Amino acid sequence: MNAPLVDPFARAINYLRVSVTDRCDFRCVYCMSENMTFLPKKELLTLEELDRMCSTFIGLGVEKLRITGGEPLVRKGIMTFFDSMTRHLVSGTLKELTLTTNGSQLEKHADDLFAAGVRRVNISLDTLDEKKFADITRWGRLPQVRRGVDAALKAGLKVKINAVALKGFNEPELQHITQWCAEMGMDLTWIEVMPMGDIGNEDRLSQYWSLKDVQAKYSEHYTVTELAERTGGPARYVRLEETGQKIGFITPLSHNFCESCNRVRLTCTGEIYLCLGQEDMADLRAPLRAHPYDNGPLEDAIRASIAMKPKGHDFDYSRQQLDGQMPRHMSHTGG
Ligand code: GTP
Ligand code: 5AD
Ligand code: SF4
Repeated sequence: MNAPLVDPFARAINYLRVSVTDRCDFRCVYCMSENMTFLPKKELLTLEELDRMCSTFIGLGVEKLRITGGEPLVRKGIMTFFDSMTRHLVSGTLKELTLTTNGSQLEKHADDLFAAGVRRVNISLDTLDEKKFADITRWGRLPQVRRGVDAALKAGLKVKINAVALKGFNEPELQHITQWCAEMGMDLTWIEVMPMGDIGNEDRLSQYWSLKDVQAKYSEHYTVTELAERTGGPARYVRLEETGQKIGFITPLSHNFCESCNRVRLTCTGEIYLCLGQEDMADLRAPLRAHPYDNGPLEDAIRASIAMKPKGHDFDYSRQQLDGQMPRHMSHTGG
């Protein structure tokens, strides 16, 4: 048995987020610029290489695998990859295989995802207003995503809605979105907008809506109970007693959670990023390709990279400027 991955701050690393493509069929304004350029497809790890990468991490103690992008379900052949990961669930080495998706392709894939062993899916959805949805995603169609949500629930998947909290945008919809999630039997997580990537002239400071304020709003309208339980990700949860649903808060700005970080990120080109908000990274593709029949060098490279994991991000808006801004987009490292 291999020694588990532990970083310099004694944090056990058991959660791998894998971006399988930097492409997306939407262009959410806080995420990408309209004329975003994507990597040539030949730069991507093949599905077989993704399998070997993930399997090696699982061999080193990773128990939770989240497939992300860009939009993971636009990657050609991605269901083959999900199917290939099922064996790690069956053997019990992998505890959770899951994904974060914009929902646009879920109507097509929900049943197959369930069959591959996925039991929970996080769907990004920031508004229930069709016009506002088309604006924020630049051309996305809300009914298509709603059909995706329906298909996921029908397939037996537990659904959590992820909404980026945007001042003046979904602020007036807080109760409507919450109520909709309650009626559909879904949990809901709010995320503070982070300074990831150059997105043109968008002003992140004026978009930023602190989740301290969001939580205060909930307390005005509901009886809120703080919960100790976690899902292995960064969210803290409360329960709304009136509806019984769980509301999560991901608060990189207003309440840093780096102390309990358990995750690293693999890009679609085989780089490992040690923190969402730092540039520390290492190339894992070279050792993977140089040693097709020996995982030892790849394992050594993974361990060496974990030893470089920084303490945390430096995002900070408190001085009314975007401190800690990252040059890379969220879609590059998968959130
Ligand atoms: P659960 O398994 O349901 O807990 O999901 P998760 O929160 O781990 O994954 P999800 O993809 O739903 O994450 C939602 C968002 O949280 C991401 O897109 C990021 O915006 C943010 N996030 C996740 N991990 C980190 C992290 O390590 N640091 C920061 N700053 N933000 C993170
Ligand atoms: N800050 C916070 N969340 C973001 N996402 C994309 N870009 C940002 C950002 N700059 C979210 C998406 C989705 C998840 C993958 O990341 O809305 O929920
Ligand atoms: Fe696509 Fe998600 Fe970025 Fe929106 S936030 S453009 S859905 S990757």
